[in-house]
Amino acid sequence: MAERENLAPLLRVLAGERVDPPPVWIMRQAGRYLPEYRELRTRAKSFLDFCYSPALATEAVMQPLRRFPLDAAILFSDILVVPDALGREVRFVEGEGPRLKPLIEEDGPWRFGDIERGLQRLSPVYETVERIKRALAPEVALIGFCGAPWTVATYMLQGEGGDKDRARRAVYQRPDDVDALLGVLVEMNAQHLAKQVQAGADCLQIFESWAEGLPPAMFQRVVIGPTRKLIDRLRELGVTVPVIGFPRGAGAQLAAYAQQTDVTALGVDTQTPADFVIEHAPEGMPLQGNLDPQTLVAGGEALDRAARDVLIAFKRVPHIFNLGHGITPEAAPENLARLVKVVKGQA
Ligand code: CP3
Repeated sequence: MAERENLAPLLRVLAGERVDPPPVWIMRQAGRYLPEYRELRTRAKSFLDFCYSPALATEAVMQPLRRFPLDAAILFSDILVVPDALGREVRFVEGEGPRLKPLIEEDGPWRFGDIERGLQRLSPVYETVERIKRALAPEVALIGFCGAPWTVATYMLQGEGGDKDRARRAVYQRPDDVDALLGVLVEMNAQHLAKQVQAGADCLQIFESWAEGLPPAMFQRVVIGPTRKLIDRLRELGVTVPVIGFPRGAGAQLAAYAQQTDVTALGVDTQTPADFVIEHAPEGMPLQGNLDPQTLVAGGEALDRAARDVLIAFKRVPHIFNLGHGITPEAAPENLARLVKVVKGQA
């Protein structure tokens, strides 16, 4: 235990310790709800250019930390830099979200750019991690991340977000092509995460934003299997840091995810009852979440009450306070300041 005392509070929780008050960070804490982010964003032509500028991306990471005493920083980048690096066309359309060239409109077998060259294209991301690490206080943990294979694949398959019907249909219609795609994403994301850790990331989060709506057999095949392979591959590459898995919308399949993927900790979405996840996750697994992002738009009494409910619901387990999904552009920065005070017991 002694060596843990020098660890950042968030890393102590990820090592299985209950810390009071719990460490707190906010998904999408660098983003459009901050006026200084909106200003910074105008300095790059496209969102991808912004992600590939170590100076701009590092500044975006530091902005929320200057305002709020948060316990972690997360790399500023996107899960879709990986398809971009694999040679698929990726664009971010203002007000609409990401647009890719849909694989389902192309005949298989699908071919992708070389992984080695892809990682070279991502070298500005690793330089960003190095810069953030140098700028951070030692008690603030640095989180690296990637999209889970299935979530990234859904964007690549259907070319956009929205309902995932076309991606799910592709698993039935072209199972071998989809498996090959997931295999490429396992390898690329494992290497991508390993590079982030080499550059200074203290822990990792895997965003499975599209875990919802899958029948159990398909959930096993496209979510649990590839995530497990990704973590196995990471460990094979010598990466030992903790990994938070965040399978948003997994519902009742959260239990299988927690037990079978080998994640260190579990991100819990807004709809999931704390009691359910505490009962079904492996004993002592650190849990992260799960305040409704809309409370940061509403503010006032409703925010205070909802935040205290989350604190109480997770008070018996190793807990990292967070939202159940990303903060929205409509959220008020003052409400986040208030939230951090409530979590830290200063309000
Ligand atoms: O503080 C942070 O969390 C910043 C780093 C970060 C971004 N995207 C920056 C971003 C992270 C961790 C992500 C992950 C991400 N990207 C996910 C998983 C998390 C989730 O929200 O479910 C997903 C699904 C994506 C894909 C993506 N990127 C979408 C759907 C969008 C559009 C969303 C929107 O609100 O318009 C993006 C763009 C994006 N990525 C923005 C930011 C700050 C907004 C675009 C901008 O600032 O111009």
